[in-house]
Amino acid sequence: MQKKIEEAKRGLENEVKAITSLKEAELLKTKYLGRKGVVSDFMKMLPTLPIEQRAAFGQQLNALKGEITIILEERIASLPSEAAPKGKQELFDITLPGTQPFIGKKHPLTQTIDDIKEVFAGLGFDVAYGPEVELEYYNFDALNIPSDHPSRTDFDTFYIKNDVLLRSQTSTVQIRVMEKQKPPVRIIAPGRVYRPDTVDARHSFMFHQVEGLLVDEGVSFADLKGVLNQFIKTYFGQNVQMRLRPSFFPFTEPSAEVDISCSLCSGKGCCVCSYSGWVEILGAGMVDPNVFHAVHYDAEKYTGFAFGMGVERITMLKHGINDIRLFYENDMRFLSQF
Ligand code: DAH
Repeated sequence: MQKKIEEAKRGLENEVKAITSLKEAELLKTKYLGRKGVVSDFMKMLPTLPIEQRAAFGQQLNALKGEITIILEERIASLPSEAAPKGKQELFDITLPGTQPFIGKKHPLTQTIDDIKEVFAGLGFDVAYGPEVELEYYNFDALNIPSDHPSRTDFDTFYIKNDVLLRSQTSTVQIRVMEKQKPPVRIIAPGRVYRPDTVDARHSFMFHQVEGLLVDEGVSFADLKGVLNQFIKTYFGQNVQMRLRPSFFPFTEPSAEVDISCSLCSGKGCCVCSYSGWVEILGAGMVDPNVFHAVHYDAEKYTGFAFGMGVERITMLKHGINDIRLFYENDMRFLSQF
C-alpha cells in the first residue's frame, strides 16, 4: 500500500513539471483529487483492508491529499503571469475594503487643554507646570490664604504629612514661576488638582485646572477682561457673552467670578444654568500685593492679573456632557465621540 501511495506521489511530481497553464493544472487536480481520481480510488480500497490497518492507511491518504494540494498550488503559483490563476485572483479581491486599523486620539480633557494652550499661545503666554505633591506654603501661605481659612482643613485638602499635601489648585504654579522669574510674566499652568469631594455627577476627588498669570508694569483690569473675552469667544464661539461678578479670592483684589451665557440654551434658561441663562466658568482678579510680597516683586511697580478655570467644567459645557465621571471611566463609547 505504502508503495502505491509513493508511486502516485512520484507520478504527480513528474506530471506537474510538464504543465504550462492553469487549465492543465485543473485537469491534473481532477485526475488526482477528483471524485474518480487517484486518491478516491485508494479510498475505495479502504473497506477491503483488515480493520487494524484501516486507520493508518486513512491517515496516509489524508497526508497524500495534503501533499498533492501543496504540489499543485506551488506549481500554479510559479506559472507565468498570463496563465495566472483566475481562482487565485478571486480569492484575493483587492477591491474589497481592508480592515480598518484602530487609530487612537487624544482624551477630550487633553484636547481642551491643547485648545486653551493654543488660544493663550496666540496671546503670548508660555506654559508652566508645577508639582502635584506640594508644600502647604505654595498652596496657601504664599497665596495670602490665612492659616484659619476653611479650605486648609482636611475636609477640603488631602494632606500627606504635616505641611505636604496634594495641591488643591493650580494657583501654586503662580508662586513657583514668580520665584524663579522677574517680570514680565505671562504664563498658563495646566494640571491636576485634588480635593476630598464625594464623587457625583459634578464632583471628583481629582480634576484639572488651568491657571493664568500676567504680571507687568501698568497691567489693568481691562487687560484681564480683554484676555478672558478673547479666550471665551475663541473657545466657546463668537456669540457667547461674558459677564463678571464681584467675588473674593485671597490672592486677588479685586476679584471676580466670570460667567458665560449658557451655551446649551443660548441664555434662555435651562437646567444646566439653573434657569439663569448664565454659567460660571472661572475665577479671576488682580494679583493681591501680598502675593507679590511673598515672591519679592515690587508691588508699587508691577501689577498683574490671574485666573483659574476648571477643565472638566468647560469641556462639559462646550459639549453638553452631564456627568464628570464619564471622563475617567475609559469607556470608548464615550471617548470616541470627541
Ligand atoms: N484657585 C481658584 C480655585 O481653585 C481659582 C482661581 C480664582 C484662580 C481666582 C485664580 C484666581 O488665579 O485669580 O477655585
